[in-house]
Amino acid sequence: MSGPLHTQLCEKLGIEYPIVAFTHCKDVAVAVINAGGFAVMGEALHTPDQIAADIKWIRERVNGKPFGIDLVLPSSVPEEKTLDQLLAMIPPGHREYEQMIKQKYNVPDPKTAPDIYHWGGLDQKRAMDQMEVIFDERVPVFASGLGSPAFLLKRAHELGMQVWGLVGKPRQAKRQIEAGTDVIIAQGYDAAGHTGNIGTFSIVPQVVDAARGTGVAVIAAGGVVTGRHLAAALALGADGVWTGSLWLTSRESDVNLPLKERLLECETDDAIISDCISGYTMRTTRSPWHDSWLAPEAPEVLKPPLQMMLSANYIQGSLDYQRKDLMTEAAGQGIHYITEMKPARQILSDIVEEALDVFDRFAAD
Ligand SMILES: Cc1cc2nc3c(=O)[nH]c(=O)nc-3n(C[C@H](O)[C@H](O)[C@H](O)COP(=O)(O)O)c2cc1C
Repeated sequence: MSGPLHTQLCEKLGIEYPIVAFTHCKDVAVAVINAGGFAVMGEALHTPDQIAADIKWIRERVNGKPFGIDLVLPSSVPEEKTLDQLLAMIPPGHREYEQMIKQKYNVPDPKTAPDIYHWGGLDQKRAMDQMEVIFDERVPVFASGLGSPAFLLKRAHELGMQVWGLVGKPRQAKRQIEAGTDVIIAQGYDAAGHTGNIGTFSIVPQVVDAARGTGVAVIAAGGVVTGRHLAAALALGADGVWTGSLWLTSRESDVNLPLKERLLECETDDAIISDCISGYTMRTTRSPWHDSWLAPEAPEVLKPPLQMMLSANYIQGSLDYQRKDLMTEAAGQGIHYITEMKPARQILSDIVEEALDVFDRFAAD
C-alpha cells in the first residue's frame, strides 16, 4: 500500500486510510473500521459493564482489526463521591435558576436517569473503574480525551496497548511526548466538545514540530469534515485526522432523529463555545440552555463536575421527549458541510476521494 494517504498512522495501526472516527455509536465504529478507517469509541458515559459489553460486540464484528476506547481522566474533580453527595453540592440558587429555565421553556422532566450520571468525569474513582476494563480487555488503543494519560503508560505498554492523548495546547503535547505517549491528537478550537482556544491551523504544525524525530504520530482534529480538510491536515504534517461531528448524522448513528435533523440544519455559528454544559469550555450547538446562561442575571457557572450534573436533567429531558427546540449536542465548526445523512462507508469514501483529487491536482500542476 502506498500513495499520499498512506501515512505512519496507517503503518502503526494496519489501516487503509488515516481517518479516525470518534463516536459513541458501536455501529458507526464497526462500519468505519470495516471500510478501512479507524474508530475510537467514546465510553466515558458508560458503566464498566456496558464498556465490557461494547468491546465484546465490536470484537465480534471487525475480524481482528484494531479499535480504540476513549475515556476522560480529569484530575481536577473529587477523588471519590457518590451521586447523592455530588448532587447535594449544587447550590440552591443554581437549582432555582434551573427551575426558572425549566418553566420558561417548558422543559420536561427526563423519563430516564441522565447518562451523565455515569460520566467518568464526575470523580476519579469512576474514571479508574472504567479504565480497569480497558486494561482487562487489552483494548489495542486507549485514548484520553481530557487529562494526561502519562500515569497509565507503563501498564498499558506492558499489556501491548497504545496510548493516545488528546491535547489543545503545544505544551501539553510536549509533556505527553516526553512521557512516552504513542500518538498525539492535536485538537484545535474548531472542534466539537471540550476544546481550547488555539485554532486547528495553528496547533497542528506546532505539535508536528514537537513530535519530529520521536516516532510519535500526530493526528489533526477540529473542523475536519471533507477531503480538503484531510489533505490540508496531511500538508500541515499530520499523519491523519480525528473526526467527531462528521459521524453524528451518519445513517448508522444512534443519535435520535430530531437531533440529527437539528444538526443537519446547523451552521458554523450555531456551534458555540460555552462552559454552561460541563463547566469546561465546550463547543456545542446553541439552545435555550445556552441563552439562559448568557443572560446577565445568570449565576456563575459551576466548576466541574457540578455544572454537568446541573445541565443533566435539561439535556436528558430534551432527548427523552424529542424536543428539537431544546436539544443541544457537541458539534464542531465544520458542521456547515454536514448536510446529508449518509452511510458511514460513504462518508469515508467521499473524504478519501476528495483528498486524492486534491493531491492529483497538485501533482498535475
Ligand atoms: C457528540 C460528541 C461528543 C464528544 N465527546 C467526547 C468525549 O467524550 N471524549 C473525547 O475525547 N472527545 C469527545 N468529543 C470530541 C471528539 O473527540 C473530537 O475531538 C471532536 O469531535 C473533533 O472535532 P470535530 O467534531 O470538528 O471533528 C466529542 C465530540 C462529539 C461530536
